[in-house]
Amino acid sequence: MSLDNSNNLFTYKNNSLHFNRHDLMQHQCIKNYKSPFLLYDLNIVQDRLNWLKEWKGLGRLHFAMKSNYTEDVLKLILKNGCGVDVVSLGEIKLALKVGFKPQDILFSGVAKTVSEIEWAVQNDLYQINVESISELKRVDQISQRLNKQVNVGLRLNPEVDAKTHPNIATALKDSKFGLNLSDLPAVESVLKSTKQIQLKSLSFHIGSQVMDVTIFQEAIVRMKAIFSDFQKRYSSLDRFDLGGGLGINYKDHDISHDQKRWQDLKAIYEKELAGIKADFLIEMGRFVVARSAILIAQLQYIKKTENKTIAILDVGMNNLLRPMLYQAYHQLYPLTQRQAKQTYMIAGPICESSDIFHQDIELTELQEGDFVAIADAGAYAKSMASNYNLQPIAEDYFL
Ligand code: LLP
Repeated sequence: MSLDNSNNLFTYKNNSLHFNRHDLMQHQCIKNYKSPFLLYDLNIVQDRLNWLKEWKGLGRLHFAMKSNYTEDVLKLILKNGCGVDVVSLGEIKLALKVGFKPQDILFSGVAKTVSEIEWAVQNDLYQINVESISELKRVDQISQRLNKQVNVGLRLNPEVDAKTHPNIATALKDSKFGLNLSDLPAVESVLKSTKQIQLKSLSFHIGSQVMDVTIFQEAIVRMKAIFSDFQKRYSSLDRFDLGGGLGINYKDHDISHDQKRWQDLKAIYEKELAGIKADFLIEMGRFVVARSAILIAQLQYIKKTENKTIAILDVGMNNLLRPMLYQAYHQLYPLTQRQAKQTYMIAGPICESSDIFHQDIELTELQEGDFVAIADAGAYAKSMASNYNLQPIAEDYFL
């Protein structure tokens, strides 16, 4: 793999790995290493927020909190004037703790409980994105009982194939997410019968780690016809929520390629949404934060079997479940580069046969005690971490 491109997040100088130009071996937290940790460069998050702001039509980014719960990350996002997209009372409480106001919080999720909805209605959250007819009725009943108005968005399933891993595609026909287009007559009859619900938004989210931006275009084309039709009948409808889902290439750390993918999506937004009068919201998570952190781990043992050289790390699925759950690829970079090359199976410490990051990955030669950086650990890594085997959950450090 060639790392000499200056846009590359990872480079070697004097055989020492640099992450966004920081020499990792010189960092205090490596010198004092005790257990696996996440190392952030928050400039990477800021750069992406700046890219997103280049879209003049953007109403507000509602950062998908489920991708990252680190308070310093959330505070930076808040400082940039963004809101959050949350899916539980737990996430709402964290958002409030770091300083977001109820008016910054958009509440998604397929299983909102009575007490969660009561809380949202009582506290005048920015918007509740409703995902089923039953949920809409529940929101209506609760807001009547509390005698409060509530801002509702309808999350519609545009029924497009996001061509991503099936575990993270959300807009297929039989998905548990969102209202199907065939639900709309029933939805409208609830809306006509209520005085409490303000229909503020239509929303869609087609899935996560979407690499082909034309799929967003397909969804927007389908959705904007519905949006315009609804706007004729519902004067309160003034937000169009375009969801999240923009992916990153986990095998390529040339940042200019990420920027290009966003610019391609921005061009689609600009073209397709011209003429629609609404505040445009986006709910990205991964694209904003995935690149900003690396997971640092230490090689404990090298074990040879008949067919493999197995490198066993002190971190595994407890801190990064993505490879096991979605067969996701996370590049691994040794902090010290040697001349020889070797193919390794990379395993974690957890007592599960599936605790494998890579079956076969060619790296420069490793030795026991070496440190490695696992790339793109800023999204859906620690937020999905578990205490299984009572291994520690990675702490956060900052460059
Ligand atoms: N909005 C809604 C309604 C969502 O369900 C999600 C993600 C997002 C926004 C943010 O999507 P993003 O921009 O981050 O792709 N754990 C999986 C990803 C699950 C995504 C769930 N929903 C992974 O590690 O790939």
